[in-house]
Amino acid sequence: MAKIAVIAGDGIGQEVIPEGIRLLSALDGAHGLGLVFEELDLGAERYLRDGTTLPPETMERFRTEFDAIFLGALGDRRVPSNVHAKDILLGCRFQLDLFINLRPIQLLDARRCPLKGKEPADIDMIVFRENTEGLYTGVGGQFKRGTPEEVAIEAELNTRLGVERIIRAAFDYAERHGRSSVCMADKSNAMRHGHDLWQRVFRVVAEEHPSIEAFHLFVDVLAMEMVRAPERFDVIVTNNLFGDIVTDLGAQLQGGIGLAASGNLHPGRVSLFEPVHGSAPDIAGQGIANPLATHLSAGMMLTHLGHPQLEAEIQGAVQRCLQLDQVTRELGGELATSAVTDAVLGHLGLS
Ligand code: NAD
Ligand code: IPM
Ligand code: MN
Repeated sequence: MAKIAVIAGDGIGQEVIPEGIRLLSALDGAHGLGLVFEELDLGAERYLRDGTTLPPETMERFRTEFDAIFLGALGDRRVPSNVHAKDILLGCRFQLDLFINLRPIQLLDARRCPLKGKEPADIDMIVFRENTEGLYTGVGGQFKRGTPEEVAIEAELNTRLGVERIIRAAFDYAERHGRSSVCMADKSNAMRHGHDLWQRVFRVVAEEHPSIEAFHLFVDVLAMEMVRAPERFDVIVTNNLFGDIVTDLGAQLQGGIGLAASGNLHPGRVSLFEPVHGSAPDIAGQGIANPLATHLSAGMMLTHLGHPQLEAEIQGAVQRCLQLDQVTRELGGELATSAVTDAVLGHLGLS
């Protein structure tokens, strides 16, 4: 049995997550996976109703009762402080110590790539985004708020432990998956404290993995190179904020944000799976959100639960949908959200 906590969340999260559950339930029916879902009423609606973001007892249940968390998106214009997203999404990442934000960038259909002449083999990289520190911890403060002398400090936290474990995870992955290189991206030319730490740790860990080519790029050059020559990249490791930014860039290389999947992992513990995109308030409620990023994230969750073959099958089905233009509007198709899932199920022989 595998127990999955479901947080559909806000906006299109409410539309794509039920599609993901439909896919997972169909696979469960066919393969007897023993998946048990528990839907949690968390997100902007709940926060606006009674002020709840993420109760501490729910966090404790994540730790002790669940194998995985399946999340849609959090973000609602009625909650400008975004406090619920901070407590729920960043809360899970930090408190469950999900230190790896794993974000594959894989082109499944050459026609979807905005770059000229690129084939699926050219765009096949995976980003290890540090997920528990960096500029996301809230360390800092405001002084003389609202006055002309106001000071606002957002401190970047880099610990030796945090930097080392994400870099090690990237090299270990490269070794286990037959990837030939690891690129580390930082801004150590300007940020001489924290990013010097990244430099030193990277060199030490790289030396322990002589069979993997290790190279460094400043993150501005990484952004440029991902567009100029994406075939250079295999495994990329970087900090929390840079990883956020370059994976949205990467999402476009693979065909769009509606195709980008992610896992927030702590190996051996409960982990969280979610599409990279947000709640997309501009299209929410219309039934036109692309569910494929959610389906690919469900695939990553199945690998976490011990079924890598099913992730490969989902990828194959998504690829067929892209090749056959069985896609939503933003990709030039005509299908509604649920019709895309129907097509995926069809390719899996589950309709
Ligand atoms: P977004 O990813 O929600 O949307 C960016 C653009 O991509 C929009 O035009 C949207 O329509 C489109 N898009 C996104 N997902 C799509 C899909 N599945 N199918 C079709 N089109 C899609 O980013 P944003 O507009 O910057 O953020 C909206 C809200 O979501 C904000 O509150 C933000 O903080 C939040 N957000 C949450 C998460 C998360 O929960 N993991 C991630 C990113 C953004
Ligand atoms: C993501 C999102 C989040 C992040 C936001 C919603 C805090 O953009 O998961 O990519 O920056 O990590
Ligand atoms: Mn993001």
